[in-house]
Amino acid sequence: MKTLLQILTEKVSDAFKKCGYNYELGRVTVSDRQDLCEFQCNGALSGAKQYKKAPRIIANEIKEKLVTDSDFEKVEVIGAGFININISSKLLIDYLVELNADKSLGIPQTENQETVVVDYGGPNCAKPLHIGHLRAAIIGESLKRIALKTGRNAIGDVHLGDWGLQIGLVIAEVLERFPEYNYNDNNFDEEHEKIIKLNAEMLNEIYPFASKKSKENTEFKSLAQQITAKMQKGHKGYLSLWKQILDISKDDFKIIYDSLNVHFEYWYGESDAEKYVDRLTQILEDKNLLYESNGAMVVDVQQEDDKTEIPPVIIKKSDNSSIYATSDLATILQRQLDFQPTSIWYVVDSRQSLHFNQVFRCAKKASIVDENATLEHLGFGTMNGKDGKPFKTRDGGVMKLSDLYDIVYEKALEKLSESNFVSKENIDDTAKKITVAALKFGDLINHRLKDYVFDVDKFIATKGKTGVFLLYTVARINSLLKKLENSYDGSLDIKNIYSKLEKELLLKIALTPEVFVKAFNEKAPNYICDNAYDLASVYSSFYNDNHITTETDMDKKKTWISLSMLVKKVLVNQLDALGIETVEEM
Ligand code: ARG
Repeated sequence: MKTLLQILTEKVSDAFKKCGYNYELGRVTVSDRQDLCEFQCNGALSGAKQYKKAPRIIANEIKEKLVTDSDFEKVEVIGAGFININISSKLLIDYLVELNADKSLGIPQTENQETVVVDYGGPNCAKPLHIGHLRAAIIGESLKRIALKTGRNAIGDVHLGDWGLQIGLVIAEVLERFPEYNYNDNNFDEEHEKIIKLNAEMLNEIYPFASKKSKENTEFKSLAQQITAKMQKGHKGYLSLWKQILDISKDDFKIIYDSLNVHFEYWYGESDAEKYVDRLTQILEDKNLLYESNGAMVVDVQQEDDKTEIPPVIIKKSDNSSIYATSDLATILQRQLDFQPTSIWYVVDSRQSLHFNQVFRCAKKASIVDENATLEHLGFGTMNGKDGKPFKTRDGGVMKLSDLYDIVYEKALEKLSESNFVSKENIDDTAKKITVAALKFGDLINHRLKDYVFDVDKFIATKGKTGVFLLYTVARINSLLKKLENSYDGSLDIKNIYSKLEKELLLKIALTPEVFVKAFNEKAPNYICDNAYDLASVYSSFYNDNHITTETDMDKKKTWISLSMLVKKVLVNQLDALGIETVEEM
């Protein structure tokens, strides 16, 4: 369905055309002076030069056409030739009835068949998830949902780091600690050998230990490197351990991602790309792109108009092992073959921008992805502590994601202990949802490229721009609707608009679809956060102004109940786009 701005733009553009002007001049926008009017069109000013006419004259001609249309309540020409517009209650109500009935709640659906692969998460096996993985998960999940809600086919892939040195380090350490196992054997046969039983707790201890050791002990480091290289070439013993480490890590990651309401369609990893590395190398060779430099095989990606030097991308190191870029390129090949994506989005820390620049250039140069496909690195800033430096544990270490979650969860529990609304058996579930809302909204309200400060007390507040305020608004509507259960049948029945505030509320709802388009175009969920907050705030004022439960005018009562239902529906959908679930009561 069309958006409200599209409908208005068409009407005003028609008027321009009828008066003999360019149709394109009729673009309508939301007024930036809400005290004066709801919408505006500045086309008369843009057209003045072209038609050698004073803008006010053009604007007045347009106005004469528009005033005959009963969908406009007010059309005014002001200042140099701005056309100010208020729309009729009928148009607004009719639009909302349509929006309510639409399964996408009025959000324009793309007409093309588009497939977006969203690469987000990016955790590394054998290491615990830490807070550095939080933003990728939160932002990636939301962007994927925004793509889905605007009619795209969106596929999330966690892209595990499961093929690198960190695995070799863990294997080396495990074998040193447990020499009684036979994993060094290239012909290791799982059926007949003694199998070690590792678990997540062990890995969480072993990885940092081995990583530290490798920095102090070059022999150990080179052993880990050798193990990694042998594993990548198919060493049976190491692969058997690798598989176990992978499974443990995945199970562990799934628990925490689930608790954050982050869900991946695919759990592929760098190891899955390995199968495509030979094909990739062949393509690069066939196209004469690969050449030797200092013993390594590289591809040039420098372009003429570059202001800085972009170094060649390394495909094979001098020891013939493949590296990060190789695996990303091979993954592009895999995604092209599996999904024929129209775009691939990489939701990864901004500090990796050079890497992605190199990889994308190489992919395009070698045509391993559709010519029209877009490859985008959607970077993000850092989550800082109150000191303005990257958030750390008290002793200056990297905080595990599960520990961060627990900090917020404890606060949520504390908050709920003050509430009389939540029954004992629902406390845990409600606290979990509050935790996710607080964490995600606290993050997503900031434009993804900006750094922000982790402030649990601010995030968990019921007032202000927080996810908790939005959950509270929905819970308040739930309780209202429960009280009024017998006085409505669930259908949308808006009889009239009774106050200015109500019109403001209706307009806010009517403009939500535009926000999704903007959030999609700019890959920026913060617009949805702002919009959801604005909507909830206006609803709050409306709720405080009107005594819905005791209202005796039945038409008003029905209208207000309808509005409340619609606000809830729209808010729930917006929160869903942010990956936030609502609570029944709080
Ligand atoms: N595992 C990587 C890291 O920890 C992030 C992966 C991001 N995705 C990608 N396709 N490179 O830095």
